[in-house]
Amino acid sequence: MQTKSAARNIFFGGTIFFFVIFVGLVAHSYSYIVTTSTNVKTLTEAVAHGKKIWEENACIDCHTILGEGAYYAPELGNVCKRLGGKDAVMGMIEARQENEEDTRQMPNFNIKGKDLEDLAEFLCWTSTIKTQNWPPNEAG
Ligand code: HEC
Repeated sequence: MQTKSAARNIFFGGTIFFFVIFVGLVAHSYSYIVTTSTNVKTLTEAVAHGKKIWEENACIDCHTILGEGAYYAPELGNVCKRLGGKDAVMGMIEARQENEEDTRQMPNFNIKGKDLEDLAEFLCWTSTIKTQNWPPNEAG
């Protein structure tokens, strides 16, 4: 027979036990993000501004970034590595905004100058995130 106090002890004991495990896992995830996966030192103003441009233009409506987003256009989490650097990314975004006849179309967002540079900066910063070898192939 289980007494009332035994039931109470199981309830509180279990709650505290799993709460402690939860706090431990949060601390572990946090330290993992801060120390290994996100490159905080290189997180500049330009990168933050580039992310804003990325969000304002809803690039994610067609592209994935680190797997998140839509599957219409290529994965861009590794685009900087794939194309070989920031200048190439800027050139590609510029070219994609023009009306080329023979490729799938990307809208012309009219992104240029500092906005274009910071956007490329953001995509190049993103490609430095340690993703445990994701995507599994170059094309994403
Ligand atoms: C309406 C859909 C759409 C939106 C929105 C869109 N793109 Fe694209 N994007 C494309 C398509 C389509 C391609 C070309 C795919 C191909 O070559 O077959 C492309 C290609 C690219 C490439 C070259 C990728 C590569 O591997 O060659 C980059 C870089 C890029 N887009 C960046 C952006 C950025 C930055 C934004 C937001 C400002 C954006 N795209 C928004 C459709 C879109």
